[in-house]
Amino acid sequence: MAPRSSNRASGEFRLPRSGMRIGIIGAGRIGGGIARQLAMAGHQVQLAFSRNPDTLTALAADIGRGVTVGAPDATVAISDVVVISVPWPVLPEALAQAGSLAGKIVIDTTNQFGAPQPPEGATAAQFNAERMAGARYTKSFNTLTSGFQAAAAHRVGDDRVVQWLCGDDAEAKLIVAGLISDAGFVPVDLGATAAAAVMEAPRRDGAVYGEEYRAADADAVVTAVADGKPIPPTPEYH
Ligand SMILES: NC(=O)c1ccc[n+]([C@@H]2O[C@H](COP(=O)([O-])OP(=O)(O)OC[C@H]3O[C@@H](n4cnc5c(N)ncnc54)[C@H](OP(=O)(O)O)[C@@H]3O)[C@@H](O)[C@H]2O)c1
Repeated sequence: MAPRSSNRASGEFRLPRSGMRIGIIGAGRIGGGIARQLAMAGHQVQLAFSRNPDTLTALAADIGRGVTVGAPDATVAISDVVVISVPWPVLPEALAQAGSLAGKIVIDTTNQFGAPQPPEGATAAQFNAERMAGARYTKSFNTLTSGFQAAAAHRVGDDRVVQWLCGDDAEAKLIVAGLISDAGFVPVDLGATAAAAVMEAPRRDGAVYGEEYRAADADAVVTAVADGKPIPPTPEYH
């Protein structure tokens, strides 16, 4: 269980850093949006993994900001942080093309729609962390639709939207939290991969998956998850 002091939804997540090298494996709706937001924030972004690489070239040109395109394994090799954002059934192929993720901070945006399913009792985050041997695994950007994320990334102040994250590497989570903040959201750490069920599909009562949260309502969720209790009712914003 992660210490509560590391979970708070505030600027304390920010670490001094600039121009991190971000590799995007799967630059579709979610990965493409993250690429755009992080490139706009001044990070060096490279796009990879497509059935039609022309789409990556076109997206890179559209974003500008020095975004480049490369092969998946070459992209991983030059990246500090690797965003993996592909359809669940495609993940084995994406990982095969990505090569070794050892030592890389990974942000997994996937949701477990399709095969293979995690074993009984395991979260999707635990399952994927095992499939990414040696990676400094985190999971985030997976609970909100791509359209909502694109629209909400520009909010300011108390209206900023929470992106939940989980993972078993505290330092990796701090760095990812900074990137979430750079992408226009409030990072909130829900704890270890074992505690991730509440942020995983499907949308249902008692989970944050599919729901908008803002910072003011996040700490009560973190506390409930840490205590193994039901989370408070989903907030409504007008
Ligand atoms: N869409 C959402 O609202 C949303 C929200 C939260 C989380 N997620 C999760 O995030 C992950 C990515 O979702 P997404 O909606 O961004 O997916 P997407 O738009 O379909 O993007 C997937 C990317 O993977 C690439 N890809 C390469 N090989 C592929 C193959 N064999 N089959 C399919 N795609 C291939 C696609 O490139 P080409 O098409 O050029 O081949 C595309 O850029 C999923 O696990 C999803 O559950 C999605």
